[in-house]
Amino acid sequence: MKAVILVGGKGTRLLPLTCNTPKAIVPILNRPFLEHLLGYLKEHGVTDAILAMCYLPDPIQSCLGDGTQLGVRLTYLVEESPLGTAGAVKNAESYLNGPFLVLNGDTITEIDLTAMVKRHKEVKPKVSIALTPVDNPTLYGVVETDTRGLVQRFVEKPTWDKVTTNMINAGIYILEPEVLAHIPASTPSMFENYLFPRLLEIGEPILSYPSDAYWIDIGTPEKYLKANHDLLLQQVGRGIQAKGKSQFHPTAQIEGPVLIAEGCIIAEGAKLKGPVVLGPHCEIGKDAVVQGAVLWHHSRVGEKAILRNCVVCSHSYVEPGSHVPDNCVLGDSVTVASGNILDKGTQVWPDGYAESNETQP
Ligand code: GTP
Repeated sequence: MKAVILVGGKGTRLLPLTCNTPKAIVPILNRPFLEHLLGYLKEHGVTDAILAMCYLPDPIQSCLGDGTQLGVRLTYLVEESPLGTAGAVKNAESYLNGPFLVLNGDTITEIDLTAMVKRHKEVKPKVSIALTPVDNPTLYGVVETDTRGLVQRFVEKPTWDKVTTNMINAGIYILEPEVLAHIPASTPSMFENYLFPRLLEIGEPILSYPSDAYWIDIGTPEKYLKANHDLLLQQVGRGIQAKGKSQFHPTAQIEGPVLIAEGCIIAEGAKLKGPVVLGPHCEIGKDAVVQGAVLWHHSRVGEKAILRNCVVCSHSYVEPGSHVPDNCVLGDSVTVASGNILDKGTQVWPDGYAESNETQP
């Protein structure tokens, strides 16, 4: 089965991480996000993927090439302007024959795709949709189903008194190719508010595949950080994993789970308290404390600076004595001046990017 992976969105909620890096290749445990997703697909025997791109397509293509290194075959399609989730799949129609998978390019999951495909083939609906439970359904589009698992209704962000289910669309679908006839070509449209309601209206069966397997989307900085923490715990346990050569001062203290890429320098008395991910060529200064943070490549933390549960993109510098507390996000190439104590949740954007208009300069 082929897969269409939707990676054309602007990733606005993930800004400023996505100022220069599309959401599809932000590093998770120091590997581009899509490598994880393609690895998951490969585990389920899917090795042929079409990447539906729009925003910042070039970095995605140069990062993954033709997929050979990952043991998959990649086809790239670029939309001139965003076609939305359904429009993007319509745009790939000529590459699709037979039933195919569609995945949002921002979820990490262990949903059993093999079992989902098996059930789709047994029941033969026009569409199967994976569902995942959430604690707060009022923030999402929920999917109501009947006792046979057939979808009855999509309800966007229900108020608490209208909540009938906590199952939401997990962003993984199996589609029969004939449903593409219901999507207008070269026109923006979405699955949730266009194609799926339309299929229900004309009586086409949509089957749900509910699963309580691990699922997270990396759509916001908080969830991006959580995805790194979860995967780190899962893959490194409580341990310390250093890839390639780095320098550790003998008085540095490191408590796992910690993942350190090549070329890092951890100075005298510095403390790393997991979960921590350091990208290539990061420097942690003397007596600095880094706890629960994810740093991208070439970022530096000055002497006695403190970082907690935050994300620091590439080439940034937290100068000596400054504090970067919970849920702060530093974009690429930013500096936190010496002794500066940021408020929780502060975002520092790269020069030339305005938080207000959320666009490239
Ligand atoms: P936000 O701007 O933060 O909402 O993020 P987003 O643009 O990624 O939108 P959203 O999270 O709703 O999108 C879900 C998935 O669909 C993501 O993997 C997006 O990359 C993808 N996507 C959204 N819109 C488009 C589009 O117009 N074209 C393509 N090819 N993919 C899209």
